[in-house]
Amino acid sequence: MKTTHQERAEAWPSTFRTRSTEKTSSARPCRKISKVAKPNHCTSSRRENSIVPAAAGTWALPRGGGDGDSGDPRRLSPPRGSPAARPDDVQERRRQLVTKAEAAGWGRGTMVERKLLILFGSQTGTAQDTAERIGREAKRRHFQCRVEALDSYEVANLINELLVVFVCATTGQGDPPDNMKTFWRFLFRKNLPPGSLCQLDYAVLGLGDSSYPKFNFVAKKLHKRVLQLGGNPLLPVALGDDQHDLGPDAVIDPWLLALWDKILALYPLPPGLEIISPDVRLPPKYTLHYLDEDSPHPNGGPLQPTVPRAVASELHPFTARMVSNHRVTAESHFQDVRLIEFDVTGSGITFSAGDVVMIRPQNCPEDVEQFCQLLRLDPDRCFVLKPTEPGTSLPALLPQPCTIRYLVTHYLDISCVPRRSFFELLSYFSTNELEREKLQEFSSAQGQEELYSYCNRPRRTTLEALWDFPHTTCVVPPDYLLDLIPRIRPRAFSIASSLLAHPDRIQILMAVVRYKTRLSKPRRGLCSTWLASLNPEQGDVRVPLWVKKGGMKFPADPDTPVIMIGPGTGVAPFRAAIQERVAQGHRGNCLFFGCCQKSKDFYCQAEWEELVTKGFLTLFTAFSRDQEEKVYVQHRIRENQRLVWELLSSGNAHIYLAGNAKQMPAAVAEALQSVLQLEGGLSPPEAEEHLRALERSQRFQSETWS
Ligand SMILES: Cc1cc2nc3c(=O)[nH]c(=O)nc-3n(C[C@H](O)[C@H](O)[C@H](O)COP(=O)(O)OP(=O)(O)OC[C@H]3O[C@@H](n4cnc5c(N)ncnc54)[C@H](O)[C@@H]3O)c2cc1C
Ligand SMILES: NC(=O)c1ccc[n+]([C@@H]2O[C@H](COP(=O)([O-])OP(=O)(O)OC[C@H]3O[C@@H](n4cnc5c(N)ncnc54)[C@H](OP(=O)(O)O)[C@@H]3O)[C@@H](O)[C@H]2O)c1
Ligand SMILES: Cc1cc2nc3c(=O)[nH]c(=O)nc-3n(C[C@H](O)[C@H](O)[C@H](O)COP(=O)(O)O)c2cc1C
Repeated sequence: MKTTHQERAEAWPSTFRTRSTEKTSSARPCRKISKVAKPNHCTSSRRENSIVPAAAGTWALPRGGGDGDSGDPRRLSPPRGSPAARPDDVQERRRQLVTKAEAAGWGRGTMVERKLLILFGSQTGTAQDTAERIGREAKRRHFQCRVEALDSYEVANLINELLVVFVCATTGQGDPPDNMKTFWRFLFRKNLPPGSLCQLDYAVLGLGDSSYPKFNFVAKKLHKRVLQLGGNPLLPVALGDDQHDLGPDAVIDPWLLALWDKILALYPLPPGLEIISPDVRLPPKYTLHYLDEDSPHPNGGPLQPTVPRAVASELHPFTARMVSNHRVTAESHFQDVRLIEFDVTGSGITFSAGDVVMIRPQNCPEDVEQFCQLLRLDPDRCFVLKPTEPGTSLPALLPQPCTIRYLVTHYLDISCVPRRSFFELLSYFSTNELEREKLQEFSSAQGQEELYSYCNRPRRTTLEALWDFPHTTCVVPPDYLLDLIPRIRPRAFSIASSLLAHPDRIQILMAVVRYKTRLSKPRRGLCSTWLASLNPEQGDVRVPLWVKKGGMKFPADPDTPVIMIGPGTGVAPFRAAIQERVAQGHRGNCLFFGCCQKSKDFYCQAEWEELVTKGFLTLFTAFSRDQEEKVYVQHRIRENQRLVWELLSSGNAHIYLAGNAKQMPAAVAEALQSVLQLEGGLSPPEAEEHLRALERSQRFQSETWS
């Protein structure tokens, strides 16, 4: 059946807000189209061409993760049956584009606008950096280009877009990043009509890590969903992988080459224009305008106590008072772990066990000072930012006007490992031949191995890299600071206390990140080092924070027993759960805890022992280094298989797992499968499937981090 753009627009919900009440048939159009749209680019033959089996080709590294949905990276043509595999008829596709433009209400014979929208979902900045890179490449190809976080984009307009590149990371256990969650819920609404995106040419670039079981889950799912809604994929989904020696670039670089070939075939360069050479520096996103030296200094900023607004959030964090900060590992132990308490009185913050507190860290004053010296910036100067292109919004987390000191302390992530784009931009400023050559090498595809061993392997910081290029660093124009250096990301911590046991308080159990690489100075985690350095006994200490829902939810029926597996700081959310459940008088709490040595890092030992004595807790401990052979939580699970099985089978217990994301989760899953086999009599495939079913029904939940 043929449908017009207007009919599809009417069926496409206009806003996300209308979710619960809206019906497809009664939805308002997302925008008024005054002209009668021309029928019809979405004919049945087009539909036959674009609907393919759900597992449309992926383009991944062969080592790709556990779900088997990967392909050969060298294969430029996708698998048979995928639309991108068909021979290109560029003329025909261009003709379709013109028809699309007309149907979208642009009028007959209109030139197709060369507009590209790049939408990203990013938790820790990699997808955003990649999206911005694609944006720069688009500008070099004379596209009108917007780069936006998925949740900042008005999703109801997607039906009007002709060309979109999605760049999406996967976080949690196969979850979408925070800044695309609203979009995600919208996109998977059941009432979106199947052909509604048939005007859209799109490509999905995924960022993930194949050591996680749900490798690039979000990108794969997004690709399939847009396809299902009628979108026309330009290429198979790309699956960037942190596990590759060259990181995600190993997949991104060749995929982008293929993408530009496709896009330029559909949207050729206007006559007389050429691709802007990579030697030419693009304008900055903002210009930085210094205010007169005698203009009043901006005061305030997020570290002053704030009057709480509706709900604390990233844009409006609550500046909580730090109440205490105690080391909970022995002084002689290599790992410094802190139990930190915050006072959130008056914030309106509420949470349940399993929720997470987000903390925005800051750079230490010495690093700020050094950065300003290297770049010859006066930390006390005030400035305002102005966007260079209409439609670009100002950075939401930066007050205006603002001092350089504030910018460097609270916004610029000078401690992160710099990415390739950093060296690329830096190379434009370099007037020193040696430095420029090196910077250009680091920003080239061939130089990626070299860059990896210079930066990623030793975990060199941005500040250290700037130090290594002094002639270039001192001439970086301040206008480019926000293009050069990403913003500081908030860090997540599982809340380790319950409001029922500690009203108006949030406690966290935090490992201070400190490790050695070949660089002489030890590496230190930004947030954990900053928090550990704060001493509330020496004055009023304030920390900006907010709370978000975590990946684990404890049973609504408190009589349901829970099995919690939490080695190391992974025990944090279980401390919250146990406090909550004990405060409600519930006894079915079983905890598997692992640490190095009983005498060194047995966190909360006295608390656990008291609860065991009172009959509220069954505790199994694995002290990995107290004997010759390592003993881990998974060994204790196997040793106690009968109890675990009984809790699971007769008690309908829920299982929870938290902690380090490396090998531990897989080893624990294996131990649980072994229980299902040995006690439940299941075959290995049945046991695997049973555990998956428990996961699907949320009876097995986990929260892991690296
Ligand atoms: C949902 C969730 C809950 C969390 N809960 C907790 C919690 O309860 N307690 C807790 O302590 N942390 C928790 N974390 C981790 C926490 O968010 C931070 O990642 C951690 O504190 C480090 O932050 P940082 O700023 O100190 O380190 P960063 O400056 O971010 O540096 C950390 C990075 O350094 C690198 N690194 C670390 N160690 C090594 C090493 N040995 N060798 C090489 N590279 C290394 C890794 O790339 C790592 O990502 C949680 C994370 C998530 C996502
Ligand atoms: N250097 C590393 O590779 C590494 C790994 C994990 C954590 N860390 C760092 O250590 C700090 C604290 O980490 P954490 O809270 O996750 O706990 P942790 O203190 O590192 O580990 C807790 C317990 O888990 C054990 N463990 C190690 N591998 C395991 C596995 N495959 N299965 C089950 N248990 C395993 C550890 O044993 P053993 O340590 O005795 O093996 C220890 O007994 C963090 O800063 C983290 O970055 C470093
Ligand atoms: C806490 C955490 C959870 C993750 N979960 C997954 C996952 O389930 N699947 C996956 O493929 N990658 C996972 N990753 C890897 C990220 O997707 C990958 O590092 C990506 O480059 C991050 O992009 P971003 O910086 O834009 O968020 C996870 C990373 C972290 C830190």
